Amino acid sequence: MRVRLAPSLLSADFARLATEIAEVEAAGADLLHLDLMDGHFVPNLTFGPPVIAALAPCATVPLDAHLMVTDPDSLVPDLATAGVCRTAVHVEACCHLHRTIAGIRDSGMEAGVAVNPASSLTMLEEVLDDIDFVLIMSVNPGFGGQTFIQASLDKIRRLRRLIGDRSVDISVDGGVDTKTAGSLVAAGATTLIAGSAVFGTPDRARALTALRQAAQRGSNP
Ligand code: DX5
Ligand code: ZN
Repeated sequence: MRVRLAPSLLSADFARLATEIAEVEAAGADLLHLDLMDGHFVPNLTFGPPVIAALAPCATVPLDAHLMVTDPDSLVPDLATAGVCRTAVHVEACCHLHRTIAGIRDSGMEAGVAVNPASSLTMLEEVLDDIDFVLIMSVNPGFGGQTFIQASLDKIRRLRRLIGDRSVDISVDGGVDTKTAGSLVAAGATTLIAGSAVFGTPDRARALTALRQAAQRGSNP
């Protein structure tokens, strides 16, 4: 399976977002990862549906929303209208996860569940047949540029076994770079999200190409 690369705009230059999107798309980005933070679920604030709606016409690849918010349900309709293709909610934020997932799918988006480093995969077992992807957090959410948590690799291997023959994508978010990409893919990751590894260097295209090569080394060890 071809691994997908999703640059996270969190580390992009917010004053040049349209240009940043064009550059990573030209370099082969498969998705654009959008981090929504509300200052409650995580101690940081970013952007919401109005900014995403303004950016959507600049993008040709699918938009991937990661909701780090305490009330994800209230955002779902506006995200669908804004042009988002897939949306992940945190298992830690949802009292009625099954209902939230259904709401995302009913609005026409693919549904994913994000899992913090300290949260157990058992929280996913009852919804694996109802989701399109799992978002494994390999850092504690809220900020770009954090150190990759090594225990995430074993978690991904266990998730791969839990998923079995279901068609559920494993996305990994946090500390993904040329050093970690290969082992993440070898462990079972199928989508790699990278913020600082792509936007933290002046040449976004070169960074994305290096990430692609590192990911391929994990596919063909
Ligand atoms: C962090 C966000 C990530 C962030 C990752 O909470 O969910 O998407 O952009 O940044 P890096 O790749 O720098 O760890
Ligand atoms: Zn994210």
